[in-house]
Amino acid sequence: MISKITSPRTLNGTIRPPGDKSISHRASLLNSISTGVSHVSNFCVGDDRSSMLGCLRALGVNINKHTNCGISKGDECFEIVGSGLHGLSEPTDVLNAGNSGTTMRLISGLLAGQDFFSVITGDKSLRNRPMKRITAPLTQMGAEINGRDNDSLAPLSFKGKSLEGIEYTMPVASAQLKSCLIIAGLYSNTPSVIHQPAESRDHTERMLNSMGGLLQIDGLTIKTASKELRPVDVKVPSDTSGSAFWLVAGACHPNAKITIPGMGMNPTRTGVLEVLKSMNANITIENEHLEGGEPTADVTVSTSELIATEISGDLIPRVLDEIPILALAACYARGTTVINDAEELRVKESDRISATVDSLKRLGAKIEETSDGMSITGTHTLAGTEVESHGDHRIAMTNGIAGLLASGVTTVGNSEDASVSYPSFWEVITELQG
Ligand code: S3P
Repeated sequence: MISKITSPRTLNGTIRPPGDKSISHRASLLNSISTGVSHVSNFCVGDDRSSMLGCLRALGVNINKHTNCGISKGDECFEIVGSGLHGLSEPTDVLNAGNSGTTMRLISGLLAGQDFFSVITGDKSLRNRPMKRITAPLTQMGAEINGRDNDSLAPLSFKGKSLEGIEYTMPVASAQLKSCLIIAGLYSNTPSVIHQPAESRDHTERMLNSMGGLLQIDGLTIKTASKELRPVDVKVPSDTSGSAFWLVAGACHPNAKITIPGMGMNPTRTGVLEVLKSMNANITIENEHLEGGEPTADVTVSTSELIATEISGDLIPRVLDEIPILALAACYARGTTVINDAEELRVKESDRISATVDSLKRLGAKIEETSDGMSITGTHTLAGTEVESHGDHRIAMTNGIAGLLASGVTTVGNSEDASVSYPSFWEVITELQG
């Protein structure tokens, strides 16, 4: 699909991005191994959701969509019938995580401790993403895993083994790795101690705590152990990462005011707000409250006079998925924004450093690629041209927002890639153009 976008004279409205992908994944996986029935509403939409739910159903979990439960009040809701920690069944075919790194890494934590054989694979992009970071510690726990390239690339196969806890220092600040090990810890005979190099999103920890899990958190160290989980109903907040696109559109457009009700405000995710505030963005936050252990709020952004900033160090894991769209914001800021320590971006759905630089350069940005980031000097102007999604939903959407800001017509190739996390993204863009 090719999408053509022009900049509207005004950019006003209330936008409700889909439910948070990371929270939806945890809610479905952890409730699937709980001891009862739960309901999850405002579940994320898109291809990644199908990947996670497909894997869980293939493991024998009963997950049904309906609209008539008391919790969702008429909205779409998923009823999950938990099988208990030891009630999953051997899949009859290869599990497919599609494009979803979270599905592959979290489900691997689950498969490592089952007493059956399983194989998980993914699409071409996922089959080239690093898996040694999970297979190495899982193997130390006693798992039997085989994969391509000396167990570092999917497909990965698992042969049921009994696991023991480990003390492990994570080489990267990755929420997927941390969650994989916490989930494997549910199947271990002894506790594990996990040391993180920096804070990353903590949705797994929050949800396990609300399900009665045995988890002790002390700064960057997490102690996990095995315990049956009780089911928990979850109303998923709007995706923080999906909201970031509209925050940048509202801050950079010369005549804009955009409100996002119920945006996820988990502090391990709101690095994007911290960065935009440090760039002088006009952002107001109202109605802050907790939804099932996760903070949410109504966030409004309006036209801002942005200034450059630096994004590096411990902030990176809390803003990782938002760096492409923040690079676009930097094009509309006074001064030079520098992004460092973001080499992890090279192993996402695409090499997001080179994909971001490629798109913004084509649009006329003053941007330079570095080994672990980029530097961008704001020019306050981009010129519409042909850009590409690079097979990556976040690059497709960054290009879409660039089209709302640039002069002339921006043409985004393979724009359907946005459907991995935000299938209605282009409809919202069309509505905003009036
Ligand atoms: C995610 C963690 C992040 C993020 C990804 C979703 C998760 O990756 O980039 O889109 O749901 O755990 P890391 O494993 O690098 O933290």
